[in-house]
Amino acid sequence: MPLQIKSLHPSFMGEVSDISLKDVFDESLLAEIRAGMDKYGVLVFKDQQFDDDEHLAFARRLDGELHAKTGSRTIAKNRFGNEALTDISNVDPTDENDVLKTNDRRRLYSLANRLWHTDASFEYPAGRYSMLYAYVIPPVSADTQFADMRTAYDRLDAQMKERIDGLMVHHSIAYSRQTLGFEFSPEEAAKIQGAVHPMVREFPNVGRKGLYLASHAASIEGMALPEARLLIKQLIEHATRDEFVYNHAWTTRDLVIWDNRATMHRATPFDDQNHLRELRRVTTLEIPPLEQSRAFDGVQGVH
Ligand code: OGA
Ligand code: MN
Repeated sequence: MPLQIKSLHPSFMGEVSDISLKDVFDESLLAEIRAGMDKYGVLVFKDQQFDDDEHLAFARRLDGELHAKTGSRTIAKNRFGNEALTDISNVDPTDENDVLKTNDRRRLYSLANRLWHTDASFEYPAGRYSMLYAYVIPPVSADTQFADMRTAYDRLDAQMKERIDGLMVHHSIAYSRQTLGFEFSPEEAAKIQGAVHPMVREFPNVGRKGLYLASHAASIEGMALPEARLLIKQLIEHATRDEFVYNHAWTTRDLVIWDNRATMHRATPFDDQNHLRELRRVTTLEIPPLEQSRAFDGVQGVH
């Protein structure tokens, strides 16, 4: 039976019904899910019954290699003992019934998820799909927002499209944290130099282009910093206008898969001192990487 996808937004976001992903091994069905991702950018799957191993195994079947060099590994040990399983929660690892306190460094680190971003753009190869699975959802709203970066690109005027064509952007998780005043130690920072990717990506499977931006976007090669940062800010403002944004209100056992190359996302604030919220994420890598992309080697354009 072909995938049943219901559209959730005029330009992106689909919800797939009647499918249990842990049982999907059929190559043609996996190919249909990938085609759905190409078309919608984000797919919501309700009522999945994953354990961690099934979650990881499904991600490998869908897209191959997993991202395990997360920024968070530089500041704390992974709670699950597996760097490919990212802990998206406010759970205190030393007392799993408690929340991370206001000034806990791990909490301060994860606050940056509330900035518009895309996962692992600071890596080479970059992140492709993220698959976020909901274990514990609080009774207050604690939604995730998604922004459609391909339609945002389409709606730029011709002059701006021409201006940004061919620009190369340095993405750095140290930079995005610094914008909130979170500092890595020099030893931590040395492990996370970042990566360089084109600002405009092509999606040959669907014949589209998209903006590739994130809070991690720190500089543009060959452009003075103030000008580069202003341009990045202006484009992120454009790309996250209401018309390009969808708000996902979570239910326990939702699995949401997004294409990090085609969308941005952010967490929305909630009372995290009084409610537990627990999700786990697996992100795949863009292999092969784009020809223009590379690991950042410390040599920047004009600053
Ligand atoms: C993530 C993320 C946002 C949220 O899992 O990569 O940014 O709402 N999550 O938890
Ligand atoms: Mn994220």
